[in-house]
Amino acid sequence: MTDERFIQKYGPWVLVAGGSDGLGGAWSEAFAKRGLNVALVARRREPLESKAKELEARYKVDTLTISLDLSSASAADELSEGLSGVELGSVVYNAALSPGGIFDKTPKDALLGALITNVVTPTSLLRNLLPRLLERDHSAVVLVSSLAGYAGSSSLATYGATKAYLRMLGEALWEENRATGLDVLVTSPGAVTTPGLIARSAKKIPGQLSPDAIVELSLSHLGKSPTFVPGIVNQLAATLLGRVLPRSSATSLMRKSSSGIAN
Ligand SMILES: NC(=O)c1ccc[n+]([C@@H]2O[C@H](COP(=O)([O-])OP(=O)(O)OC[C@H]3O[C@@H](n4cnc5c(N)ncnc54)[C@H](OP(=O)(O)O)[C@@H]3O)[C@@H](O)[C@H]2O)c1
Repeated sequence: MTDERFIQKYGPWVLVAGGSDGLGGAWSEAFAKRGLNVALVARRREPLESKAKELEARYKVDTLTISLDLSSASAADELSEGLSGVELGSVVYNAALSPGGIFDKTPKDALLGALITNVVTPTSLLRNLLPRLLERDHSAVVLVSSLAGYAGSSSLATYGATKAYLRMLGEALWEENRATGLDVLVTSPGAVTTPGLIARSAKKIPGQLSPDAIVELSLSHLGKSPTFVPGIVNQLAATLLGRVLPRSSATSLMRKSSSGIAN
């Protein structure tokens, strides 16, 4: 269902960083379904090309595929340059690395790779692209965070910290751009039923939602508030973790509820 108002507001192109698979595939699909052309970024070529072909065939939109490792220090500049001729109206930053394990036992390269992918690249990319987005009457930035950013996440310490950073970054950008046509949204899913998660967890995780549900619920909040947690169970968890519980109880609840699965 092409949506002329949506295209006018947030098109004609959207960049989905981490857009080939899982939740990112659902972001790409949601924008294509509404009639936007999609520039997709991911590391693996095959899923990238196949998602792009699928979007072109199903929704008659144009696509651009960029195979790039967002954990490389130069990724944001390479990507911005590669998109210099593309009329971007929206940017979704979905890619993330989540090295699991106890902090002092986790290889340092894995932690630093997560910091670059989840913090340095989106920060640098937005600094590059925001002036372009702000030249337009309307535009959008969506940052995909996580419930893991609402309290210290043992066994996912660095990942959780990067997700808290994204939330603060997005809130500040929302405030700085209140008077402009730029809509900023940080969405913080709980468990997402990606094929990976389904394979890793034997039982249903409370509050788990499909990638499509997360994307549609989040999009319905775009322009309404700076942050959003999809799903009632997850909203309750975010309130408990972020506002109600003493911090020592919040970190303990986070350890019990995530224990190796949710990221
Ligand atoms: N899964 C969950 O339960 C869950 C829960 C809460 C929040 N989230 C958040 O939701 C987002 C997506 O999660 P997901 O589980 O769908 O992730 P994913 O399957 O690991 O990756 C999603 C997309 O990002 C790309 N990607 C990952 N690392 C990349 C890199 N270094 N450079 C370029 N592309 C990269 C992947 O393609 P390639 O692998 O080919 O690069 C894929 O297209 C993340 O921000 C995550 O923090 C997920």
